Amino acid sequence: MSETKRVAILISGGGSNMLALLRDMTGDHPCRPVLVASNDPEAGGLARAAELGVPTAAVDHKPFGRDREAFEAALTERLEAAAPDIICLAGFMRILTPGFIARWEGRMLNIHPSLLPKYRGLHTHARALEAGDAEHGVSVHEVTAELDGGPVLGQARVPVHPGDTPQTLAARVLEQEHRLYPMVLRRFAVGDRTPIRL
Ligand code: GAR
Repeated sequence: MSETKRVAILISGGGSNMLALLRDMTGDHPCRPVLVASNDPEAGGLARAAELGVPTAAVDHKPFGRDREAFEAALTERLEAAAPDIICLAGFMRILTPGFIARWEGRMLNIHPSLLPKYRGLHTHARALEAGDAEHGVSVHEVTAELDGGPVLGQARVPVHPGDTPQTLAARVLEQEHRLYPMVLRRFAVGDRTPIRL
Protein backbone atom coordinates (compact mmCIF):
# COMPACT_ATOMS: atom_id res chain seq x y z
CA MET A 1 0.00 0.00 0.00
CA SER A 2 1.21 3.52 -0.73
CA GLU A 3 2.18 5.74 2.16
CA THR A 4 -0.51 6.92 4.54
CA LYS A 5 -1.77 10.43 3.80
CA ARG A 6 -1.69 13.01 6.56
CA VAL A 7 -4.95 14.94 6.94
CA ALA A 8 -5.60 18.28 8.65
CA ILE A 9 -9.19 19.38 9.24
CA LEU A 10 -10.25 23.02 9.61
CA ILE A 11 -13.45 23.77 11.53
CA SER A 12 -15.33 26.74 12.99
CA GLY A 13 -18.09 25.03 14.96
CA GLY A 14 -19.35 21.78 16.42
CA GLY A 15 -17.42 19.72 13.96
CA SER A 16 -19.89 16.93 13.23
CA ASN A 17 -18.36 16.47 9.77
CA MET A 18 -14.90 16.48 11.31
CA LEU A 19 -16.01 13.68 13.66
CA ALA A 20 -17.38 11.67 10.73
CA LEU A 21 -13.99 12.01 9.03
CA LEU A 22 -11.99 11.21 12.17
CA ARG A 23 -14.11 8.14 12.94
CA ASP A 24 -13.55 6.84 9.43
CA MET A 25 -9.77 7.30 9.47
CA THR A 26 -8.90 3.99 11.10
CA GLY A 27 -8.00 0.49 9.96
CA ASP A 28 -7.32 0.20 6.23
CA HIS A 29 -8.19 3.87 5.58
CA PRO A 30 -5.52 5.53 3.42
CA CYS A 31 -5.33 8.56 5.76
CA ARG A 32 -4.63 9.49 9.34
CA PRO A 33 -5.55 12.78 11.07
CA VAL A 34 -2.61 14.95 12.10
CA LEU A 35 -4.36 18.18 13.14
CA VAL A 36 -7.77 19.74 13.78
CA ALA A 37 -7.56 23.54 13.73
CA SER A 38 -10.19 26.21 14.27
CA ASN A 39 -10.39 29.97 13.81
CA ASP A 40 -12.69 30.00 16.86
CA PRO A 41 -11.04 28.95 20.13
CA GLU A 42 -14.53 28.15 21.48
CA ALA A 43 -15.41 25.76 18.65
CA GLY A 44 -16.95 22.67 20.23
CA GLY A 45 -15.19 20.44 17.73
CA LEU A 46 -11.76 21.18 19.23
CA ALA A 47 -12.58 19.40 22.49
CA ARG A 48 -14.19 16.52 20.63
CA ALA A 49 -11.07 16.05 18.51
CA ALA A 50 -8.82 16.23 21.55
CA GLU A 51 -10.93 13.53 23.24
CA LEU A 52 -10.13 11.30 20.29
CA GLY A 53 -6.42 12.01 20.75
CA VAL A 54 -6.03 14.22 17.68
CA PRO A 55 -3.72 17.26 18.04
CA THR A 56 -5.65 20.53 17.95
CA ALA A 57 -4.85 24.19 17.34
CA ALA A 58 -6.88 27.34 17.83
CA VAL A 59 -5.88 30.31 15.70
CA ASP A 60 -8.33 33.04 16.63
CA HIS A 61 -9.04 35.27 13.65
CA LYS A 62 -10.35 38.17 15.75
CA PRO A 63 -7.05 39.74 16.84
CA PHE A 64 -6.12 39.99 13.15
CA GLY A 65 -9.14 42.18 12.34
CA ARG A 66 -9.49 42.54 8.59
CA ASP A 67 -5.97 41.33 7.90
CA ARG A 68 -6.86 37.95 6.41
CA GLU A 69 -3.31 37.36 5.23
CA ALA A 70 -1.86 37.76 8.72
CA PHE A 71 -4.47 35.35 10.11
CA GLU A 72 -3.68 32.88 7.37
CA ALA A 73 0.07 33.20 8.00
CA ALA A 74 -0.53 32.17 11.61
CA LEU A 75 -2.75 29.30 10.47
CA THR A 76 -0.21 28.24 7.85
CA GLU A 77 2.48 28.06 10.50
CA ARG A 78 0.39 25.56 12.48
CA LEU A 79 -0.51 23.62 9.36
CA GLU A 80 3.04 23.41 8.11
CA ALA A 81 4.20 22.11 11.47
CA ALA A 82 1.70 19.24 11.01
CA ALA A 83 2.78 18.69 7.38
CA PRO A 84 -0.58 17.58 5.99
CA ASP A 85 -0.92 16.01 2.54
CA ILE A 86 -4.62 16.89 2.45
CA ILE A 87 -6.66 19.65 4.14
CA CYS A 88 -10.38 19.13 4.70
CA LEU A 89 -12.48 22.21 5.36
CA ALA A 90 -15.40 21.02 7.50
CA GLY A 91 -17.67 23.89 8.42
CA PHE A 92 -14.75 26.31 8.25
CA MET A 93 -16.48 29.67 7.92
CA ARG A 94 -13.66 32.01 6.87
CA ILE A 95 -13.15 33.11 3.30
CA LEU A 96 -9.62 32.18 2.24
CA THR A 97 -7.33 34.39 0.16
CA PRO A 98 -6.04 33.29 -3.25
CA GLY A 99 -2.53 33.03 -1.75
CA PHE A 100 -3.60 30.52 0.90
CA ILE A 101 -5.60 28.53 -1.63
CA ALA A 102 -2.65 28.45 -4.06
CA ARG A 103 -0.39 27.19 -1.26
CA TRP A 104 -2.55 24.07 -0.86
CA GLU A 105 -3.82 23.78 -4.42
CA GLY A 106 -4.99 20.31 -5.40
CA ARG A 107 -4.84 19.19 -1.77
CA MET A 108 -7.76 21.02 -0.17
CA LEU A 109 -11.39 19.83 -0.01
CA ASN A 110 -14.52 21.59 1.21
CA ILE A 111 -18.03 20.46 2.08
CA HIS A 112 -20.81 22.83 1.09
CA PRO A 113 -24.48 22.31 1.98
CA SER A 114 -26.05 22.67 -1.47
CA LEU A 115 -26.10 20.95 -4.82
CA LEU A 116 -23.40 23.10 -6.41
CA PRO A 117 -23.33 25.10 -8.59
CA LYS A 118 -26.59 26.10 -6.88
CA TYR A 119 -26.42 28.32 -3.80
CA ARG A 120 -22.81 29.19 -3.28
CA GLY A 121 -22.22 31.16 -0.10
CA LEU A 122 -24.48 31.27 2.95
CA HIS A 123 -28.10 30.40 3.91
CA THR A 124 -28.27 27.57 1.40
CA HIS A 125 -31.21 25.75 3.03
CA ALA A 126 -33.40 28.86 3.22
CA ARG A 127 -32.55 29.68 -0.38
CA ALA A 128 -33.49 26.19 -1.60
CA LEU A 129 -36.83 26.47 0.23
CA GLU A 130 -37.51 29.95 -1.14
CA ALA A 131 -36.84 28.71 -4.66
CA GLY A 132 -39.37 25.89 -4.17
CA ASP A 133 -36.78 23.20 -5.00
CA ALA A 134 -38.02 19.62 -4.80
CA GLU A 135 -34.49 18.41 -4.08
CA HIS A 136 -31.58 19.76 -2.10
CA GLY A 137 -28.31 18.32 -0.88
CA VAL A 138 -24.62 18.63 -0.27
CA SER A 139 -21.45 18.78 -2.32
CA VAL A 140 -17.81 18.04 -1.60
CA HIS A 141 -15.47 19.88 -3.92
CA GLU A 142 -11.87 20.75 -4.44
CA VAL A 143 -11.08 24.26 -3.25
CA THR A 144 -10.07 26.73 -5.93
CA ALA A 145 -9.86 30.52 -5.91
CA GLU A 146 -13.55 30.76 -6.88
CA LEU A 147 -15.78 30.63 -3.75
CA ASP A 148 -17.54 27.23 -3.63
CA GLY A 149 -16.58 26.87 -7.28
CA GLY A 150 -13.96 24.10 -7.55
CA PRO A 151 -14.49 20.70 -9.21
CA VAL A 152 -17.23 18.69 -7.51
CA LEU A 153 -15.99 15.33 -6.19
CA GLY A 154 -19.27 14.13 -4.73
CA GLN A 155 -22.89 15.05 -4.15
CA ALA A 156 -25.71 13.60 -2.07
CA ARG A 157 -29.35 14.52 -2.66
CA VAL A 158 -32.26 14.71 -0.26
CA PRO A 159 -35.95 15.40 -0.94
CA VAL A 160 -37.50 18.63 0.28
CA HIS A 161 -40.63 17.81 2.27
CA PRO A 162 -43.76 19.95 2.56
CA GLY A 163 -43.51 22.01 5.75
CA ASP A 164 -39.71 21.86 5.85
CA THR A 165 -37.96 24.70 7.62
CA PRO A 166 -34.30 25.60 7.05
CA GLN A 167 -33.61 23.65 10.26
CA THR A 168 -35.41 20.43 9.31
CA LEU A 169 -33.88 20.54 5.85
CA ALA A 170 -30.40 21.21 7.27
CA ALA A 171 -30.72 18.19 9.56
CA ARG A 172 -31.68 15.94 6.62
CA VAL A 173 -28.74 17.26 4.59
CA LEU A 174 -26.31 16.90 7.50
CA GLU A 175 -26.97 13.14 7.73
CA GLN A 176 -25.88 12.86 4.13
CA GLU A 177 -22.84 15.09 4.74
CA HIS A 178 -21.61 12.54 7.25
CA ARG A 179 -21.91 9.75 4.65
CA LEU A 180 -20.51 11.67 1.70
CA TYR A 181 -17.41 13.41 3.05
CA PRO A 182 -15.68 10.25 4.35
CA MET A 183 -16.39 8.48 1.04
CA VAL A 184 -14.91 11.32 -0.98
CA LEU A 185 -11.83 11.59 1.23
CA ARG A 186 -11.10 7.87 0.90
CA ARG A 187 -11.19 8.14 -2.88
CA PHE A 188 -9.36 11.44 -3.13
CA ALA A 189 -6.52 10.11 -0.95
CA VAL A 190 -5.78 7.38 -3.48
CA GLY A 191 -5.98 9.75 -6.43
CA ASP A 192 -9.53 8.87 -7.53
CA ARG A 193 -11.51 11.97 -8.47
CA THR A 194 -14.45 10.18 -10.04
CA PRO A 195 -17.47 12.07 -8.65
CA ILE A 196 -19.62 10.18 -6.14
CA ARG A 197 -23.40 10.52 -6.51
CA LEU A 198 -25.58 9.49 -3.58
C1 GAR B 1 -22.11 21.84 7.64
O1 GAR B 1 -23.46 21.77 7.28
C2 GAR B 1 -21.27 22.26 6.44
O2 GAR B 1 -21.73 21.74 5.22
C3 GAR B 1 -21.45 23.75 6.48
O3 GAR B 1 -21.37 24.08 7.85
C4 GAR B 1 -21.87 22.99 8.63
C5 GAR B 1 -20.84 22.63 9.67
O4 GAR B 1 -21.35 21.66 10.54
N1 GAR B 1 -20.43 24.42 5.72
C6 GAR B 1 -20.61 25.58 5.11
O5 GAR B 1 -21.65 26.19 5.15
C7 GAR B 1 -19.40 26.10 4.35
N2 GAR B 1 -19.73 27.27 3.61
P1 GAR B 1 -20.35 20.80 11.43
O6 GAR B 1 -19.45 21.78 12.18
O7 GAR B 1 -21.26 20.06 12.36
O8 GAR B 1 -19.58 19.89 10.52
